[in-house]
Amino acid sequence: MQTVNTLRMLRTALAQLRDGNATIALVPTMGALHEGHLTLVRRARAEADHVVASIFVNPKQFGPSEDLDAYPRQLAEDAAMLEAEGVALLWAPDAGTMYPPGFATSIAVAGVSEGLCGAARPGHFDGVATVVCKLFNQVAPDMAFFGEKDFQQLAVIRAMARDLDLTAPHVDAIIGVPTVREADGLAMSSRNRYLTPEQRAAAAILPEVLATAAQTIAAGHQPVWLAKSVVEDELELAGFRIDYIEVVDSGTLAPIGALSDRPARILVAARIGTTRLIDNMAIERGT
Ligand code: PAF
Repeated sequence: MQTVNTLRMLRTALAQLRDGNATIALVPTMGALHEGHLTLVRRARAEADHVVASIFVNPKQFGPSEDLDAYPRQLAEDAAMLEAEGVALLWAPDAGTMYPPGFATSIAVAGVSEGLCGAARPGHFDGVATVVCKLFNQVAPDMAFFGEKDFQQLAVIRAMARDLDLTAPHVDAIIGVPTVREADGLAMSSRNRYLTPEQRAAAAILPEVLATAAQTIAAGHQPVWLAKSVVEDELELAGFRIDYIEVVDSGTLAPIGALSDRPARILVAARIGTTRLIDNMAIERGT
């Protein structure tokens, strides 16, 4: 695996990889890799000739009260993991390369970026859309892979690609990969490392109550408002402070009060101690 950190080196390395018609898949990350990221890489390897991974801790998606400096950075360890998974090229620019002096452009995706995490983290999805658009333009991949754990992020990136008529990758080649979970169901996240042993034990209730709510709503046993209120009560009892619990149309992310024939999803963001966890699950009729 080659690691590059300038645009010139990236272009040269990509030209070598392309070598005619070879396909390239991009797996964008901020590092601090775990099994969830490695699952994206494995899926990408199965679909494309070469996998390019990026590691860039994007300052533009951190709010003023969010600690950019404290975000875990472990480039050597991450690079070893990517190499072991067969990644061909690691793109690891620094902030000056990504946002040189005079950088003045921001991409704002209205609608899907506004509620849920967008309401709690103003500007976050503008930062995500801007950096992902840049990564797409820099690498020009045939396809790109993102985790469904960040379900709203995936919707924002797809909307951006659709609205801006991106071709590398085309919106249909932006692939969402199901959330990878720990043995007790907790969604894998770089943030889980911040949990104390007690908080980590308590956090297992999050996927449990979410799955129960999804099944209860799908089966028609409880209306959406009641299922949401049960999730809220159970999480608060376990020591969480709720940011939001919402049932949404999976395509538009608009909140819904009842199921229709369109796919629906339940999403939650909640804090335990100082750590903010998010999770989401499909509400599948007939489950
Ligand atoms: O999900 C992430 O790790 C980041 O938000 C992403 C997509 C790499 C953009 O910085």
